[in-house]
Parts: sequence; C-alpha cells; structure tokens
Amino acid sequence: MIIAVDGPTASGKGTIAKALAEHFRLPHLDTGLLYRAVGRQCFLDGGNPDDPVAALAACSFPDALLTDLELRSEATGGLASRVSVHPAVRQALFERQRSFATQMSGAVLDGRDIGTVIAPEAAAKLFVTASVEARAWRRHLEMEAQGRDHSLEEIAADLAARDERDRNRKDAPLVAAEDAVLLDTSELDRDAAVAAAIAAVEACVSRALS
Ligand code: C5P
Repeated sequence: MIIAVDGPTASGKGTIAKALAEHFRLPHLDTGLLYRAVGRQCFLDGGNPDDPVAALAACSFPDALLTDLELRSEATGGLASRVSVHPAVRQALFERQRSFATQMSGAVLDGRDIGTVIAPEAAAKLFVTASVEARAWRRHLEMEAQGRDHSLEEIAADLAARDERDRNRKDAPLVAAEDAVLLDTSELDRDAAVAAAIAAVEACVSRALS
C-alpha cells in the first residue's frame, strides 16, 4: 500500500506521515529532505539556487548530507523551495522517490507532489493543511525549543513566501490531487490529527476493497 501525504510547510504532514508509517508498519520517506539537501549542497558549492544548472549539479549531493542538522533550518527550507522550481531538479529526484514508493512492502511518502506526480496510484492520499497563523505558531514553538529566535511575523512572512512559490511554480505545483482527502489540522492537536489521518486511510482502503 502506498500512502501519499502532501501539504504546505508546517501543516503537520511530516508528523502525520511518520505516525502513519509506524501505525501501518511501512517505510517512510520525507521527500522535502531531498530538496533541502539539494538546496544546501548548492549553497555549499557557492551556486545560485535560482540557476537551473547550479541547482542540477547539486542533485548529486552525498547521502551523508541527509543527516546534516542544518537541513532542518528555515534558511535551508528557503533554498529548497528555490531549487525545487527547476524541472531538471524535480526530474533528477524523481526516480529515487518513485522506487521508494513502489517497493514491495508499500510506503508512506510526504511532500508536495506525491499524490499528483510521484505516486498517482497511491491507495490513500491525504492533503494536510492548516491556517498560516497556526503553522507560524507551531514553527515558532519548534524554533524556540531549539533556542532559535525568530519573530512570529518573520516566520509567517517566510511561510507565505514559500507557499506562494510552491503553489505557483509551473512544474508539479503544490495542489491537492482530485481524489485526496483534505485534513485541516488548524484546530487539532497532534494526537487528534494522527487519529483523523489513520481513520482517513482506513476509509480509503475499505472503499478500495468494497
Ligand atoms: O517539506 P519541506 O518543508 O521540508 O520541503 C522543503 C521545500 O522542498 C518545499 O518548500 C518545496 O519547495 C520543496 N518540495 C517539493 N516537492 C516535494 C517536497 C518538497 O517541491 N515533494
């Protein structure tokens, strides 16, 4: 079974995808991490993330980079959103994501285009959203816990800029698949969001079996 979890930054999709993987005992891939690694490698190479040639060259990042804590930073998230605009970068990362999705065991993948491009045949597709305010607040708490100081306004502006770029790019824009279940987590805590996601996946599976 393939489970696709898409949605904007800080919507809770990563937490939900991890919990679904644990619940259904499936391997999980956070595809945002791949784009973050490309953005980070481009920066380390001194390249311009808006230049398709420099961004494509950064796609051959070493696997060890995937464990770099700097990948989780807001700055790297911004770089990821810039390199992910280029079709050649998306193409270069496609096969890695596709083979993860189609492995025998099944898989959970989270990202922006899993249900639309990477695994349109997924048995269950969730599109996780939350208001900008709720997402900015969560990100603020996360950063505070890591000792990073960013104002709520700064974080909200950064999220809005990334949303705008992800939604409006020509190739694989952030959009819910037609058959995705929408899950708004604005008013839900972690456990309630995970319970709603598990129920949605079970409903998709029993619909497919009936
Ligand atoms: O999900 P995360 O915030 O880690 O993703 C970082 C950036 O990578 C996103 O803003 C988006 O531009 C890009 N991305 C993408 N397609 C995916 C996953 C992430 O374009 N499947």
